[in-house]
Amino acid sequence: MAHIFELAESLSAQPNYVNGVKTSTQSKFPATGVFQGFNRPSRIEGDVHDLEVTGQIPDDIDGTFFRIQPDHRFPPLYDSDIHFNGDGNVTAIRISNGKAHFKQRYVHTDRYNHETKHGKALFGKYRNPYTDNEAVKGVIRTAANTNVFFWRGMLLATKEDGPAYAMDPDTLETIGRYDFEGQVLSPTMTAHPKFDPKTGEMVCYGYEVSLQTPLLFYYPQPTCQSSVFETRQLTPPQAGGNGNDGSRDIVVYTISCDGIKTSESWYKAPFCGIIHDCGLSANYLVLPMTPFKCSPSLLAASQNHWSWDPSEDQWYGVVPRRGGPPDSIKWFRSTNAFQGHTVSCYETQTPGGGGGLSNTVKIVFDLTIADGNVFFWWPPVDTPPGTVSTRNKLQNSTTRWVLDPAAQTNSWIDPVEERREFSGEFSRIDDRFTAVKYNHYWQAVIDGAKPYNAAKCGSPAGGLFNTLGHFTWDNTTTETYWAGECGTFQEPAFIPRAGSSEEGDGYIVVLLNHLDELRNDVCIFDAREIKKGPVAVVHLPFKLRLGLHGNFVAQSEIAEWKARREGEIGPVRAATEPLPWQKELESVGGVAGVNGSSVPSN
Ligand SMILES: [Fe+2]
Repeated sequence: MAHIFELAESLSAQPNYVNGVKTSTQSKFPATGVFQGFNRPSRIEGDVHDLEVTGQIPDDIDGTFFRIQPDHRFPPLYDSDIHFNGDGNVTAIRISNGKAHFKQRYVHTDRYNHETKHGKALFGKYRNPYTDNEAVKGVIRTAANTNVFFWRGMLLATKEDGPAYAMDPDTLETIGRYDFEGQVLSPTMTAHPKFDPKTGEMVCYGYEVSLQTPLLFYYPQPTCQSSVFETRQLTPPQAGGNGNDGSRDIVVYTISCDGIKTSESWYKAPFCGIIHDCGLSANYLVLPMTPFKCSPSLLAASQNHWSWDPSEDQWYGVVPRRGGPPDSIKWFRSTNAFQGHTVSCYETQTPGGGGGLSNTVKIVFDLTIADGNVFFWWPPVDTPPGTVSTRNKLQNSTTRWVLDPAAQTNSWIDPVEERREFSGEFSRIDDRFTAVKYNHYWQAVIDGAKPYNAAKCGSPAGGLFNTLGHFTWDNTTTETYWAGECGTFQEPAFIPRAGSSEEGDGYIVVLLNHLDELRNDVCIFDAREIKKGPVAVVHLPFKLRLGLHGNFVAQSEIAEWKARREGEIGPVRAATEPLPWQKELESVGGVAGVNGSSVPSN
C-alpha cells in the first residue's frame, strides 16, 4: 500500500520541481539525500530548559557551547541544492551548576530577511548569483552558516562567501551585519579566523575579494593600545562576477583586542581556489589553498561555483602576520590533495650561533589532508558528481608541514609527518595554545573497521565519523571512543578545567548523532580520558542538523563583556553603510550580469 505522503504527492496539482527548479509554492523539500533522513532540515527555533542528563555534568563547567548548522529555512530554489547552502542556525547549550539548557535561533542575514519577507527561497545555487531571483539583486548572499565564535561581547556568525553577522550571546538575537565599525569592508570574510591568546588579536582574511574603492594599507603597531597608522593607496583590483567572484585577491586583517584594525594587507593567489582555514604562528599566517577552481563563465552559465581540478597542486601561501606588502606572499606547492581543517600552527627557532647570525625560523603547520575530493558534489568540469560511499573511502591523514619563510616562492614541499593510522577531520586543540607549540589534539575519526548498521541508519549522513580520537604529537597518547554502530560525532570543542592552565586539562564537548533515532545528544568527556566514554550525556529531545563548527565560551567572559558593553564601550554597532560592491552596483543601476540573474522575478 502506498504511503500517505506518496499519495499526497500524486494528488498534488503542481509538481514540486520541474527541470530542477522549484515550481510549487508548497513547503516541501527535494527528495534527495541532502534533505532526507538525518539530513532533513531542523528549522527549529526555541528553548528547552533543564535537559535530561545521564551521568554527571562537572560542576566547574560554567559557560555555553555555541555551534552552527546550515539549515534551509525554505525549500531551495533548485532541487540539486547542497547542505552548505542552508541558512545559519545557531545552537547554544548553556551549562552551569550541573544542568544544561538549549536555545536555537536563525542568523537573520540579509538573505534570511529577504526570503522571510517573501515567504520562499529567492537565492539560487551555492555562491552563484546568476541563479538568483531578480528580487534579490544586490543583496548580500551569505547564509552565515559555517562558524560561530565570541568576539568582544558578541557572537559572530560567518561563512567565507560574505561578511560576518553579530548576535547577542545571551538571546541569540541577530544584531546585524558587522563590519567592525566600518573597518572591514571586504566582500568576504573567513569562517576560520584565529585568536592569539597572547595578544588578544583576531587575525582574519577574505579570499575571492575585490574592493571597488582605493585600498588603505595599515601597518602594525606592537601593542593593541596603539591606534596610529600609516596608509598608502594601491590601484583597485579588477572586479569580476558580482564584484568578487573568480577574483584571485586575498586580504588579511588584524583586529586588536580593543577592536582596532591594525593591519590590512592584500595579496594575489595563483588562481581562484578555496582558502577555507588558516594557520597562525607568532609572526606568520599560513593560507592553504585547495585545488578547486572558480570560472566566471561557468558561473554565468548557472554552473557550480567550484570545480575540482585533479591536476592542480595543493598550495600554501605564507604571509607575514602584520603589514605584509603584496609581494611578500610566498607560495609552497605539493601533490594534489584536499586540504581539510587546520589542527594548529607555531614557529620553531634554531639559534643562529655567534657572528651576528640571526635565528632560523620555521613554521610548523598541521592539518588533515584527504587523498581525493571530499566535496564530491563539486566534481571536475564535465564530470558527474561522486557519491557519499566514495567519499567515505578517502584517507584523511593528519599531516605536518615545516615551512621555511626564507625559501623561494613556488618551492616544492613534502610532509615531514603523515599520520595515516586514523582517518580524521574537525581537529581541535586546547585553544589557549593557539600559535604556540602544542601537543594534544582531538578529532572526529572514521574507523572503517568498526561495524556500521546501514540497515537501520542508511548512508552515514555527513561522513562516517563514528569515533572520537585524542592524540599527541609526542606519541604518548592515542585513545579513541567509538560511538556505536548507529552513532557519529560532529566537531568537538575544548573546555578548560577551571583553575588549570595545563595543556589539555579540561573537557571535550561534542554533538553525537543518533542516525537510527534521528536525535542528538551532547556528550561531555574528560579531555584526557576519552577512552573511558563521556562523563555526562545531555539528551536533546529532537534532531538537529549536521553542523559545521562551534566553540565553548566561559560565562565569566560573556558576563565581563556584557558589563563593558552596557558601560564604557557601549553596545555592538551593526554596519550602517552598504558594502563597497553594493554601492558600486547601485551607482551603475544594477547592470545585468552583475550579481545578476537568469531567473525571472515573480
Ligand atoms: Fe570549516
